[in-house]
Amino acid sequence: MADKRISIGLLGYGTVGSNVYRLLDDQARDISEATGSSIFIKKILVRDPSQPRPGAPQDIFTSDFADILDDDEISIAVELIGGVDPAYDFVSDLLKKGKAVVTANKQLLSRRGAHLFELARENSTRIQFEASVAGAIPVIKVLRESMVAADLKSISGIVNGTTNYVLTEMGRTGSKYEDALARAQERGYAEADPTEDINGKDAAAKMAILASIAFHTPVGLDDVACAGIENISSLDIAFAGELGYTIKLLGVARLYGERVNVRVHPALVPDDHPLATVSGAYNAVFLKGTAIDEIMLSGPGAGGMETASAVLSDMVSIVTRPQVSPLENPVAYRNLGFFPDDDVVSTFYLRLEVKDEPGVLAAIARVFGDNGVSIESVIQKGRGAHAELVMIFHPVREASFQAALDTIVNLEGVRGKPRPIRVEGKEHEH
Ligand SMILES: NC(=O)c1ccc[n+]([C@@H]2O[C@H](COP(=O)([O-])OP(=O)(O)OC[C@H]3O[C@@H](n4cnc5c(N)ncnc54)[C@H](OP(=O)(O)O)[C@@H]3O)[C@@H](O)[C@H]2O)c1
Repeated sequence: MADKRISIGLLGYGTVGSNVYRLLDDQARDISEATGSSIFIKKILVRDPSQPRPGAPQDIFTSDFADILDDDEISIAVELIGGVDPAYDFVSDLLKKGKAVVTANKQLLSRRGAHLFELARENSTRIQFEASVAGAIPVIKVLRESMVAADLKSISGIVNGTTNYVLTEMGRTGSKYEDALARAQERGYAEADPTEDINGKDAAAKMAILASIAFHTPVGLDDVACAGIENISSLDIAFAGELGYTIKLLGVARLYGERVNVRVHPALVPDDHPLATVSGAYNAVFLKGTAIDEIMLSGPGAGGMETASAVLSDMVSIVTRPQVSPLENPVAYRNLGFFPDDDVVSTFYLRLEVKDEPGVLAAIARVFGDNGVSIESVIQKGRGAHAELVMIFHPVREASFQAALDTIVNLEGVRGKPRPIRVEGKEHEH
């Protein structure tokens, strides 16, 4: 039986907010048994409270933030507005008042997270954000608690469901990028404006959050180099398939000694790698560490109800562990430097359109050789007067590979702009 009432202030009643309300209602009995408390939503902040909204009673909606901020009975606020403004001001004010905050807002955390964590600590309260990365997958809790002694070295993630759906569709049907994206939008897997998904920025925000938690060092959105899937063609997907790879938009965060490198880019992943099997709108996070070998967590990466479930798990943590400890507020105690992208050693795939003439391949091979880039395999696909060279390289420092490409693009007989794609996960063998 619940012996305590916990009042919540909800900021936002959109896709996630309305599902938090519903799920809290549906699961009231289990939550009350688990926590010994009855948790109820006392006020909901929206822009227009006069608009009828299914689920919650009309009289708890407000457009006045002070109704939540100044209500001393409200001890937990749940921010589900999204974006940086005004969410940043709201969350800052709530923390300054000593209220605990739960948020699903990756934009806010990847831009202002370090400051908000500090504010939470100064005010002896906390900010929880399980729902900000990978929807229903409990990755933040796992990183902060279960992996505390794992000595993590890298995190590779498929953390954007829209792009994973688009790439899966392109591979499954052979369709063009634009058609696969239109299908994702029809089925509700992509926003009307999917720019931040497609260009990798959404995934970059999530990787910044994951890297800062895993490596205990501040990583912001601007520290993450990022490339999207706009230039991936169905031809690349087909060639990669022939070579035994699947193309994914990957976030990769790695430790290089005392430095960290975080980026988001499309990558060829070997078909027998666990990440290659993650299809459709699913997300997955693949962790490697000295003490754990490899662990993969996967599941739905978005959706109102799935995200609401992660929000509720944070609310339950706060209620059941009222003492604030470093586990609740991430401590960036390491302040690591960043490992330069140019010095990262990567394996590349490259498709080059060339004139089908004698000497072209020899000239290309010479430039690669001059730059210390060694070709692992090359397949030539004829297309009339033109040919496609599909090449895989041995691991190489990225700056050397780029220097070779800068020369190759100007060679007589090379057509179009070479668009290399990294190969990740080749070292995985089971
Ligand atoms: N949707 C997902 O599947 C998903 C998954 C993971 C994380 N998230 C994150 O969850 C958060 C919420 O996303 P969502 O999809 O639920 O958003 P949404 O459907 O657009 O809902 C936003 C809500 O916030 C309210 N709001 C916006 N600006 C406001 C302001 N200035 N003052 C007061 N209320 C304001 C809106 O009020 P009105 O109703 O009056 O317009 C609406 O109720 C975001 O941070 C998002 O990144 C979403």
